[in-house]
Amino acid sequence: MRVYAEKTYDDMSKRAASVIAAQVVNKPDCVLGLATGSSPVGTYKKLVEWYNAGDIDFSQVKSVNLDEYVGLDGSNDQSYRYFMDTNFFNHVNIDKNNTYVPQGTELDEAKACGNHEAIIKKLGGVDLQLLGIGRNGHIGFNEPDDHFTKDTHRVDLTPSTIEANARFFANEDEVPKQAYSMGIRTILSAKKILIVASGEDKAEAIAKSFFGPITPEVPGSVLQLHPDVTLVADAAALSKVKDIADFKNV
Ligand code: GLP
Repeated sequence: MRVYAEKTYDDMSKRAASVIAAQVVNKPDCVLGLATGSSPVGTYKKLVEWYNAGDIDFSQVKSVNLDEYVGLDGSNDQSYRYFMDTNFFNHVNIDKNNTYVPQGTELDEAKACGNHEAIIKKLGGVDLQLLGIGRNGHIGFNEPDDHFTKDTHRVDLTPSTIEANARFFANEDEVPKQAYSMGIRTILSAKKILIVASGEDKAEAIAKSFFGPITPEVPGSVLQLHPDVTLVADAAALSKVKDIADFKNV
């Protein structure tokens, strides 16, 4: 796998944006798998900057998102649809009709999850999947468990994730307790994966994901099975990796 060890969050964001830009230049009608969270905010910012400078065109790009809170409508400022609109889609020339986020307001699990899988299939699969990682190693909302879930599914969020995400809500009670998330097979089906990680509190998740056993207890560890992964991380997120050169063997 490829790793870019960057100094700061800003450097990380610029590098990750350049990987996405390369994908869009190589295949203007590509399907981007997108992620939310604070890790990719800077990446989206950079892409918007380059769009404004006339350097990148999203008019033919399609996108599909990893996850969404169950019960939240796209107009709710904590929904991942709202996040995508305000951090990225509203600022570039992507056609919003070509952007897909799991439908949080569809409370029928089979329908919501089936639709999301069907959309990905219809689009021909994801060319490049952007991922963040949770402090406990979750990817999308695939939480540590005793098994892997393959397809898009409804998840009960763990107390650690609820606590981590409470910073975005008025208080912890307001954090939705469930989400829809792409499954492990959905994520691994992407042709390429780009994972961004920043900060000390991700260091353990990164070290375990890439150098520990492949186990559903650390969902990010499945990335060791994917043939085309690029990790872009800052120094703090890499602080528990013994030697960056070891990534060559992952
Ligand atoms: C959230 C999202 C994930 C994200 C992760 C890390 O719960 N569902 O897709 O990667 O947590 O978030 P952050 O980048 O804010 O640390």
